Amino acid sequence: METVYFDLRNRTGAQSEADQISAAANILRDGGLLGIPTETVYGLGANGLDPSAVKAIFEAKGRPQDNPLILHIASADWLERYCEDVPPMAYALAEKFWPGPLTMILKRKSIVPDVTTAGLDTVGMRCPNHPITLAIIRESGVPVAAPSANTSGRPSCTCAEDVREDMDGKIDGIVDGGPCMVGVESSIIDLTCVPPRLLRPGGLPLEDIEQMLGHVEVDKAVTSQLKAGEQPRAPGMKYRHYAPKAPVTVVTGAPDKSASAILERVKPGDGVICFEEFISLFPEQTVQSLGHSRDRLAHSQRVFDALRAFDTCEVTQIYAQCPDSRGLDMAVANRLKKAAGFQVIEAGSGRIVFGLTGGTGAGKTSALDAIRDLGGKVIDCDALYHQMLKTHQPMRQAIVEQFGNVFCEDGSLNREKLGKEVFSNQERLEKLNAIVYSFIVPELQRLTEGDGLFAIDAINLMESGAGKLCDKTIAVTAPAEVRVKRIMARDNIGEEYARLRISAQKPNEYFEQKCDYVLHNTAESPEEFRRFARTFFERLVEEIQNEG
Ligand code: TXA
Ligand code: MG
Repeated sequence: METVYFDLRNRTGAQSEADQISAAANILRDGGLLGIPTETVYGLGANGLDPSAVKAIFEAKGRPQDNPLILHIASADWLERYCEDVPPMAYALAEKFWPGPLTMILKRKSIVPDVTTAGLDTVGMRCPNHPITLAIIRESGVPVAAPSANTSGRPSCTCAEDVREDMDGKIDGIVDGGPCMVGVESSIIDLTCVPPRLLRPGGLPLEDIEQMLGHVEVDKAVTSQLKAGEQPRAPGMKYRHYAPKAPVTVVTGAPDKSASAILERVKPGDGVICFEEFISLFPEQTVQSLGHSRDRLAHSQRVFDALRAFDTCEVTQIYAQCPDSRGLDMAVANRLKKAAGFQVIEAGSGRIVFGLTGGTGAGKTSALDAIRDLGGKVIDCDALYHQMLKTHQPMRQAIVEQFGNVFCEDGSLNREKLGKEVFSNQERLEKLNAIVYSFIVPELQRLTEGDGLFAIDAINLMESGAGKLCDKTIAVTAPAEVRVKRIMARDNIGEEYARLRISAQKPNEYFEQKCDYVLHNTAESPEEFRRFARTFFERLVEEIQNEG
């Protein structure tokens, strides 16, 4: 088959351009295959309602039949032609993010053939942000089924030349609309479940989607290798993908840490994918740059190019520096890890310890969830204290020496007995605290050893001396009225008791004065505060890493 080329890199508005668009649209209408530009990656398009045209896509790509295609449409008002029960949320997302790098999974109508959806009762819908392709879709009048234009298993195509490399002679036409602006595929969000679920991170950052939808579940297949037999929600996520011929190892961690980890391991003749500023470390290797470590758009634009480049040169193995998972980099990290078959070395981000403190009802729980979202480990001092009361012999011994045997026969604490000893007497209470702190602080030190992000959660962060273990201390506070309402709802108690509980604790100002930072909670919901806190901690981590 001879493949026709349409050079539409520069828009002219001339008749010849309109003619080319209509010739390209005719290929689709006639059941042919057409390479099309989008803002994410090039697609291999066909009329999504024509089963034999769709079948030809699978053949040209060598794509497994069980991997469904997404339909590309010209605007959101096409949704109801192909989808059932479209939720208002879908229109809201479309309004905000279409045309753009977002694919929504919705219930399909029976007009969409089985081959297109691989038999699923849902269908992926996307409105791509490329003027030429939108014009072609509009002119053809059909929804365009289009996977990425690469041969199955190879890195996606981000320019028409890549498509030629994979598809020349196998398809009817290729439209050259210039290099792709985003460079990684669309983000896929499943709207048929609650909460909505991110099936593939892509060109639209998760943070932007969550701004609109609140909490979004991230599918397991995004961050880890599925076990044999485990089925991802997006069938495509189970295949080894994006892979160059040489084996890839991904190295995560702060950029300087991952660069030195690679330096320790590489041999002459290996390949390296690294950030711009580290290129000179690898004179004896073939190097592909991802752009500067802070330039997330450059990473997404270059990641497939970098992977693809290694197919035309001889390297034994490839080490790739992996960015963190913020913004567009969530997709970049995912594609690199998939290329590596999740072969990952963690170079470490260094060790960062945050101390969080503050009164009840201010939102400390959401702030701690934000730390967990960032992969951090949270140590709840209250829980640790109760655990140690049960199992920590030296601490139990010290308490017995001071206060007599305040433990029951089964070993548990006799609260009443200990309470009688200490609560009426300030001096004795302080003695008890001193004993407890002297055992808890070394235990905290032990629990926060090694690389990683840690948070110590303690109401007595400063008094106990645990604050000294922390790189930064953070007071989580909220207006008193807000705290009262939250505690009432959370613990199902009356207003008077809620106020009593708050007044029994130290005021906001106390925590604010003692800590390095204040995280003040004025968010409408716990989810909103959690997102706010996540951004706050991400920045703080970045700051500390740059200092250090
Ligand atoms: O940016 C993009 O999305 C590009 C451009 C061309 O638009 N297209 C693209 O298509 O990446 P493809 O086929 O390479 O990836 C589509 C992914 C596959 O992992 C597939 O399994 C998943 O979407 N998918 C498609 N329909 C689905 C459905 N109904 N339910 C779950 N996952 C679906
Ligand atoms: Mg693909």
